[in-house]
Amino acid sequence: MASISIENIIKEFSGNKVLADLSLHIPDGAFYTLLGPSGCGKTTLLRCIAGFYETDGGRLLFDADDMTHVPTHRRDIGMVFQDYALFPDKTVFDNVAYGLRARGVAKPEIKQRVKQAIESVGLSNLAERYPAQMSGGQRQRVALARALVIRPRVLLMDEPLSNLDAKMRTQMRDVILDLVQEAHITTVFVTHDQEEALAMSDKIAIMDRGRIAQLGTPEDLYGMPVNAYVADFIGSANVIPVPVEPAQTPATAYYKLSGRRLEGVRAGERFDADNGILVARPEELSLLAPDPVAPNAVPGSVLRRQYLGFKTTYRIRLQDGPEIRVDQGKGHQTIDPHPGDSVQVLFPAQSRIISA
Ligand SMILES: Nc1ncnc2c1ncn2[C@@H]1O[C@H](COP(=O)(O)OP(=O)(O)OP(=O)(O)O)[C@@H](O)[C@H]1O
Ligand SMILES: [Mg+2]
Repeated sequence: MASISIENIIKEFSGNKVLADLSLHIPDGAFYTLLGPSGCGKTTLLRCIAGFYETDGGRLLFDADDMTHVPTHRRDIGMVFQDYALFPDKTVFDNVAYGLRARGVAKPEIKQRVKQAIESVGLSNLAERYPAQMSGGQRQRVALARALVIRPRVLLMDEPLSNLDAKMRTQMRDVILDLVQEAHITTVFVTHDQEEALAMSDKIAIMDRGRIAQLGTPEDLYGMPVNAYVADFIGSANVIPVPVEPAQTPATAYYKLSGRRLEGVRAGERFDADNGILVARPEELSLLAPDPVAPNAVPGSVLRRQYLGFKTTYRIRLQDGPEIRVDQGKGHQTIDPHPGDSVQVLFPAQSRIISA
């Protein structure tokens, strides 16, 4: 219902820059996720968008409206807080109805919309309970219903699924997406769970100490991380420093690993270093018998093998090199070695080398 433009926002706490000149544009109706380690500034950014914090520089726009100094109650936002922030003295029904009553919605409509919202989060039989009488996961769902029921211009959600069990978490992904897509609500979502981020987002912003390290679609971030920080944060990746030969062609990179010369792809915009970083996802690698010597493969030995049903995951010590992880999907296994066995690890020629 509105685009969000964050322009060069700065937020300091006692001289400590928690948001450092951060800019981000979120198109109308899009679902963007902030992902990053604890303390990187995700909650602070949401609170600045919501107006709970005055910023120390920069501008915030909803569409063309400058919201930088508009008070929270006039920003038309729905928010799910990290700690729920339910009214303890109100029932579930009254918690969810709060925003609609404040907006002066007619009684019969309130009843119908609240009932529907409570139903959508699976709490129909708990409408008359108080927060203290519910589990953390149930409270989280009340908070979700309360934010969604007002169909706000902008919806801000701070780890709204973190206290739910695995099954409810995946169910709630769909509930949230259905509701925000139907009402075309611009959403900023915070999670620690990268699978959740990949599954739900139009774009993900990976944050690093108050800045955005990379903004991209789930496919961009997974396939073309701009640096080792992003590569390691989204999906697990083997991140291995390697010497790289000076460029012969713009796209190809030859690098050394465990005494062998391998071919990879130069990724990222700038690439001038001879010292590169090889980024290889565990599922992109395969295992071969130790002989004969195969092109683009390096020798190593198996440290650990874990059978996980749909895949088997191996920890491999590369010869004169680091430990890496290799995943072999069920049905795509070439060999199935055990701890102590010698192997070769095949690195596809599409493996990415990024600048150190
Ligand atoms: N009100 C405050 N006063 C002082 N420092 C604060 C305040 N709020 C946050 N900070 C600091 O700002 C930094 C970012 O905090 P923030 O809560 O935004 O992190 P986060 O990314 O949401 O982390 P988490 O994933 O743990 O929720 C932290 O170092 C935190 O200690
Ligand atoms: Mg937080």
